[in-house]
Amino acid sequence: MQTTSPKFPDLNGRRILITGASSGIGAGMASVLAQAGCRLVLHYNRNEVGIEKTYQTVTELGAEAQVLPCDFKQLDSLPSFFNQAWQVFEGLDGLVNNAGIITKSLSLNDKAGQQFNDTIAVNLQAPYLLSTHFADACKQIKQKGVIVNNSSIHGQATCEWFAAYAASKAGLDAMMKVHAVEWGQYNIRVNSLAPGVVPVERTFDILYQPAMEKKWVDAMPAGRYGTVEDMGMATAFLLSDAAEWMTGSVLTMDGGLIARGHYPYRD
Ligand SMILES: NC(=O)c1ccc[n+]([C@@H]2O[C@H](COP(=O)([O-])OP(=O)(O)OC[C@H]3O[C@@H](n4cnc5c(N)ncnc54)[C@H](OP(=O)(O)O)[C@@H]3O)[C@@H](O)[C@H]2O)c1
Repeated sequence: MQTTSPKFPDLNGRRILITGASSGIGAGMASVLAQAGCRLVLHYNRNEVGIEKTYQTVTELGAEAQVLPCDFKQLDSLPSFFNQAWQVFEGLDGLVNNAGIITKSLSLNDKAGQQFNDTIAVNLQAPYLLSTHFADACKQIKQKGVIVNNSSIHGQATCEWFAAYAASKAGLDAMMKVHAVEWGQYNIRVNSLAPGVVPVERTFDILYQPAMEKKWVDAMPAGRYGTVEDMGMATAFLLSDAAEWMTGSVLTMDGGLIARGHYPYRD
């Protein structure tokens, strides 16, 4: 079985915390990073069946891994969660802030702002806390580090129903740039990945309805949905030394979806 990706050999042995590894993109990232030889701390919130599946997949690929739960709505628990994650392999080389909630709500239906607050907590405040703890821990021991934030195209171009989600992802991208600026001096790189439409367990039923798939895919110059493996490969690149000169950037991977403006289609 292949345990070292020929594309990113420097990732072999790197210790990476991936949040939200129990399904979807996080599970795909874990699989690609396991193939690159990373040692993985796999975070989940509630999906025990999903995280067990991810754990089995990565260990069958030869990766060392440990699973850690945490509910990021409980922001007080983030420091001790981070300390536990740091101790698993006596340090971490990389942090992938992937966990997120994909909330959809008309703002007028969320006047108390509960959904807005929860979305900001999980998608923005938790990555802030994890990033600052990670950067501080690296700084203390003068070790280089790398952070990848899983953002979204909604951070750049969005639509109705997504006030909370889009705000959280635009905030994540803005925060990423400041962290890249502040922490470059400590040899810590920080970038965002901005995925477009990537079918995951949560969305398979909707996105693979033929009419829905046609509507989406026709709008993508690349002619297909993204895959969790696409996102895993992009994450591996951002974590690797191949991206050594890249910090403070948003890597958009959306099959070209938001490159096209609202011009009429031309024959
Ligand atoms: N799929 C797409 O098309 C797409 C596009 C752009 C961006 N993204 C981003 O990709 C990331 C992963 O999303 P996904 O599509 O792969 O969805 P997903 O399969 O639903 O995964 C979401 C992950 O976040 C975790 N999570 C949810 N609530 C949490 C909480 N309160 N505390 C801690 N962790 C929590 C989940 O853990 P449990 O299930 O264990 O509770 C799960 O592991 C998100 O940040 C999302 O915004 C996805």
